[in-house]
Amino acid sequence: MCGIFGCILKKGRAAPLIREALKRLEYRGYDSAGIATIHGGKLYVKKDAGKIDEIHRRLDLDDMPGRIGIGHTRWATHGAPSQENAHPHGDCKWEVAVVHNGIIENFDELKKELMERGHEFKSKTDTEVIPHLIEEGLKNGLNLEEAVIEAVRRLEGSFAIAVISTKEPDKIVCARKESPLVVGIGEDGMYCASDVPAFLPITRRMVVLDDWEVAVLTEDSYKVVNALTEEEVIKEERHVDWSPELAMKGGYDHFMLKEIMEQPEALKNTLRISDFYYDLLAASLIKAERRFLVACGTSYHACVAASYIFSKVAKMHVEPVIASEFVQRYGEVVDERTAVLAVSQSGETADTLVAVRYAKRKGADILGITNVMGSSLCRISSVYVGQSSGPEIGVAATKTYTGQLLALTKIAIKVARRKGLIDEKGEKELLEELSKAPEEVRKVIEKTKERIKELAVKYHNRKSFCFLGRGVHVATAMEGRLKLLEISYIPSIAYPAGESKHGFIAVVEPGYPVVFIIPPPDDETFDDVLSNIIEMKSRGADIIAVVPESALEKVKDFVDDPIVVPDVPKLVEPIAFIVPLQLFAYYVSVAKGYDPDKPRNLAKSVTVK
Ligand code: F6R
Repeated sequence: MCGIFGCILKKGRAAPLIREALKRLEYRGYDSAGIATIHGGKLYVKKDAGKIDEIHRRLDLDDMPGRIGIGHTRWATHGAPSQENAHPHGDCKWEVAVVHNGIIENFDELKKELMERGHEFKSKTDTEVIPHLIEEGLKNGLNLEEAVIEAVRRLEGSFAIAVISTKEPDKIVCARKESPLVVGIGEDGMYCASDVPAFLPITRRMVVLDDWEVAVLTEDSYKVVNALTEEEVIKEERHVDWSPELAMKGGYDHFMLKEIMEQPEALKNTLRISDFYYDLLAASLIKAERRFLVACGTSYHACVAASYIFSKVAKMHVEPVIASEFVQRYGEVVDERTAVLAVSQSGETADTLVAVRYAKRKGADILGITNVMGSSLCRISSVYVGQSSGPEIGVAATKTYTGQLLALTKIAIKVARRKGLIDEKGEKELLEELSKAPEEVRKVIEKTKERIKELAVKYHNRKSFCFLGRGVHVATAMEGRLKLLEISYIPSIAYPAGESKHGFIAVVEPGYPVVFIIPPPDDETFDDVLSNIIEMKSRGADIIAVVPESALEKVKDFVDDPIVVPDVPKLVEPIAFIVPLQLFAYYVSVAKGYDPDKPRNLAKSVTVK
């Protein structure tokens, strides 16, 4: 998730306005930024790694001439944060400049094709193919609008782009597919941006572009065409009355809710990551004799889930370990035949880095999954996957957890294929199953949100909760409990359901809330989970449960408050079934009057041991 902005003014200079707009978009990404303007037939570009204010101090971003320009604040997906990977990107002669938010899935083949035709590339980004494609169109006699249309038709994946060119210095052409893009209509000029907050202080009149729409902006007009039909589209203008704060949260009350809701989109982005990295990671895991998954907090829960998935899908033993315990627990068995796959949203968690640095010193192969490209974990890993979930601002991890689960499951499928446990067709089937995750999560949210709001009001004053699950849903229970605990401050516990009778059951008294994650009736753990529910129910517990539709009939007599979810493919279950528990934690926190985005004593990135 990056932020893009473009403006074409009737008078004055574009650069200071672009810089301020990028600052308001920084919540969408902040590892590098840049601006391009046109003046006197010449393109001016300033860009660098770092946050906008730092770059501005170094390069004086305001000091760029021209009434027209585009800008970008980046959340790296392809290529580490660096000067050359920062946007805008240009064609061979810097006559075209492009900013882009999204992921171009077929950039590899487009890049090869363009290089064969003599194009020179300066960055490692997927974006850079776009200005070169536009350059070819212009060379072939197309105007800028036509060249952009021709270029975007060749792109697979997601994009919101803004383009300027010295060939037509009086327009911005912007286009979108699957990444957001809005056009702002002002008194003093026209604007385009990834998101409304960028131009809120300037104008509240806007038009939201839909997939495959291309907008051509001049200083006092805009026109929208469909890139596929090339027909003009008449758009409805809207007036936004959001405060800047509300706009940043996409109209939601909190970032956490926004991030829960954007999981379908974030999962799509994780699915878009090239198989190449997953294959490399799978190969490294197979080569090793001992394999540890090392992480903290929510990321550790993703590792717990992965240990079940690797065992079932890839017949591979991977040991999930809490990072702060790794050296004490397994330090003596780490050697050059060991692989340590560290999972960290931030890539900067001190406990995780201590563990991997120790393992590296002992010769282990270090692998990584992280949401932050260029993080310490990226630098220390021999291979890593950047999960591309976009920045997560709420302290409680939500969309990055489901992204981690998806990435880990994909690695397990790749291991299975490499080990010959499945053939090409089998791999394709499993990947197809997994690719349903975004849509299933969307359905779960739609089906459960209102119900969970009611349950949160009903239960928010309880003193304690217990979360129980079996199999892979031990991880779902642990994560559901962590979400509730950290943002509502309700002391809670999570157990493998089978273990609950070895101690926890002593705590249960009438009215004690126990949350179960119930699998579908054909799951091998179903009967045992049902027995555990009956044990709790017979002691008077209030049973709340995530229940797939197919199980409802069988469990309804024992569950007081079912949260009914659709049946989803097996591999998608851990991803889909945590979502109602994220929502439950969120609404309980709100019902208690807390700010779920800023839980006390917690930080987004824990960089102390
Ligand atoms: C919980 C949460 C934390 C993090 C933990 C690890 O919602 O966010 O438990 O999961 O601090 O952080 P990363 O994944 O950045 O290493």
